[in-house]
Amino acid sequence: MNKQEEILLEAERFVQKELAADSSGHDWWHIYRVTKTAKKIAKAEHADDFICELAALLHDIADEKLNVTKEAGLKKVTNWLEEHHIEKHQLEHIMEIISTMSYNGGNNEPMKTLEGQIVQDADRLDAIGAVGIARTFAYAGWKGHAIYDPTIPSRNQMTAEEYRNQKSTSINHFYEKLLKLKDLMNTNDGKRLAEERHVFMEEYLKQFYKEWGEDK
Ligand code: ADP
Ligand code: NI
Repeated sequence: MNKQEEILLEAERFVQKELAADSSGHDWWHIYRVTKTAKKIAKAEHADDFICELAALLHDIADEKLNVTKEAGLKKVTNWLEEHHIEKHQLEHIMEIISTMSYNGGNNEPMKTLEGQIVQDADRLDAIGAVGIARTFAYAGWKGHAIYDPTIPSRNQMTAEEYRNQKSTSINHFYEKLLKLKDLMNTNDGKRLAEERHVFMEEYLKQFYKEWGEDK
């Protein structure tokens, strides 16, 4: 096993331990799926697969929902990378990806590097389609939000703070984020896979309203 393979294996163990008990949609299997997708897109795009895989594995360790502050979360990742003697330029690249890739209510700048675009696409693909729908309801349950409430309208524009802290519903989340992701994908593979998952979400919503007895 070479040095990079060893680091990836250690990262996997670290993440499995850190996220084992998570029920907010950031459990180990989310990381597993995102990493698998990131590796596949990295190959198609001839990108740096070590950076893509390591950033994908570590991307939610720093999530602000799971840490006291965003800074504390990022520090945890930096420390891990330093302890494992990752080269400086690689550490900086990974930190740049992890600190800028989240949706943030649609308020973040586009990703700067191909590797960042790939990891962001992989994470976003896991937020849509059948898996994305499951994660949305799991997250809403974790937050104490309702499945649907026709008296609460979905928000069009919102600050990062409002996106994170105002009470909304699972169904509103489709309009506030999930249905927008298709047009925000970076890579060809990302766009193609997002298209299929998008159609499935539209079908799902149609059936949901039909059962609810609401015309949409
Ligand atoms: P963000 O992209 O804003 O950082 P996450 O990716 O951390 O959000 O969210 C984890 C999962 O929970 C994703 O599948 C995401 O779509 C979903 N999610 C995030 N915010 C909400 C919300 N307010 N209601 C329902 N699901 C949500
Ligand atoms: Ni994620």
